[in-house]
Amino acid sequence: MSDAFRTIAWEGDALLLLDQRVLPVIESMRRCTDSSGVADAIRTMVVRGAPAIGVSAAFGLVLAVRSAWKKGKSWRRAFDEAATELSGTRPTAVNLFWAIDRMRREAATLPDDPGAAFARLEERAIALFEEDVAANRAMGAHGANLLPAEGNVLTHCNAGALATAGYGTALGVIRAAVAAGKRIHVYVDETRPFLQGSRLTAWELMKDGIPCTLITDNMAASLFAAGKIDAAVVGADRIAANGDVANKIGTYGVAVLCKAHKVPFYVAAPVSTIDRSIATGKRIPIEERDPSEVTHLMGKRVAPHGVSVYNPAFDVTPARYVSAIVTEKGVLKPPLAHALRNLFR
Ligand code: MRU
Repeated sequence: MSDAFRTIAWEGDALLLLDQRVLPVIESMRRCTDSSGVADAIRTMVVRGAPAIGVSAAFGLVLAVRSAWKKGKSWRRAFDEAATELSGTRPTAVNLFWAIDRMRREAATLPDDPGAAFARLEERAIALFEEDVAANRAMGAHGANLLPAEGNVLTHCNAGALATAGYGTALGVIRAAVAAGKRIHVYVDETRPFLQGSRLTAWELMKDGIPCTLITDNMAASLFAAGKIDAAVVGADRIAANGDVANKIGTYGVAVLCKAHKVPFYVAAPVSTIDRSIATGKRIPIEERDPSEVTHLMGKRVAPHGVSVYNPAFDVTPARYVSAIVTEKGVLKPPLAHALRNLFR
């Protein structure tokens, strides 16, 4: 595991978040002392990645209850208001709503005493954090077996320690394979427009000394054509009941390339990413982000003023393109709808 940095750290009265907007140039922690600060950090991508935003939101709720306690206000009202604000930050990653729901269920069992409520909710948020790291470790152990003893693995976006409480989902699988002695080299998609691949994944892999090569997204196809990709591993923001997978925009293209070149396409995600209330990927809400992410590169304009822009943050890969979903409970193989049903049985 990369112990070289902490993505999320709880201080008892504040949540520290590694500011992912300025990596890899600057390594600085944003200190959030109230739930609105956490909501802002999620909305503006100080913290990003499905499990990381879920865990952060849980601590945001703890901060809301703490403020109400210190000000002598109703902690339940503060909790509800914070839950509403946090729910409105990003729509696609279901882990956000999952974590808020977990905290809400805990809150419903608590007494009116604000100090006691704070202590129990803090405990619950810490447990969510620890469960996420444990889930990633378990995914790593299951998924490492899928990767070849030696070869090139393509990944898209960042599904690493930065996107989780630690270790990572897709990068967790890669980390575990490398730890098991497999000679894995990673091709890292740059991941336009937010550059999670170049700024975050390459940074994480290099910190761990895992061999990697950065490519721009449009270079992947030529590597497949040259027979240089042995597997692709990505994370997920929401998985529908039939196995359709929403993940970072561009993931679908990687899956199509895998299919065309008969290369396995693996998705690594915790059970909290599975949304059984949604039958297919068609019903997954896809976030559209500010056009400036496309018209500007690191604050510099790279497109004409006034140009029309389309900036969806995620796409949906149909289940038929997915070779396996790696969860903490094991590896799900097609038919995925059936495997997912069995998982919850
Ligand atoms: O917009 P982002 O950076 O939050 O998108 C992140 C992804 O798409 C990740 O692949 C996904 O959340 C899985 S993270 C373990």
